[in-house]
Amino acid sequence: MTPDDAVRMALCTQMGREFAAHFQYLAMSAWLEDEGLPELSGFFGRQAAEEHGHAMKIFRYVLDTGGPVAIPGQDAPVASFESVEALVAAALAQEEQVTRWIDELVHLAREHRDPATEAFLQWYVTEQVEEVATMTELLQVVRRAGESLLFVEDYVVRRHPAGGEA
Ligand code: FEO
Repeated sequence: MTPDDAVRMALCTQMGREFAAHFQYLAMSAWLEDEGLPELSGFFGRQAAEEHGHAMKIFRYVLDTGGPVAIPGQDAPVASFESVEALVAAALAQEEQVTRWIDELVHLAREHRDPATEAFLQWYVTEQVEEVATMTELLQVVRRAGESLLFVEDYVVRRHPAGGEA
């Protein structure tokens, strides 16, 4: 069965949020590079690419289940930050918000007796657990490092290397 209109529209809304996360992480990556933190910048660049993938998975699912796809407009991302800690705290808040939205979508699919969409969303449920854990740990490391941001750069190289799992 294909998603009904309410479920399809909610999926498209979530697709827009994943694109917004893509742009937000790109803006964070750019700010971090300007701050002279190439490893953290690279990490957020890889997170941005993951978010693009999350959006495109929904794009493909909506098309595969009959469409049509509605791509929402986006506000510009936040482009400057008071500190690296503020940036990572914002990233964690974003992931926690996405988790709430995914949970709401799962409930909506269940209410609308749409097991295919519920099954599709399970990948996002699992992914969000990992992303919240990743940002939580990064925020702890940034707080522990204080002014010693090169320690955070080393942590990113060891824990989240380019080419590895983000
Ligand atoms: Fe696609 Fe990080 O939420």
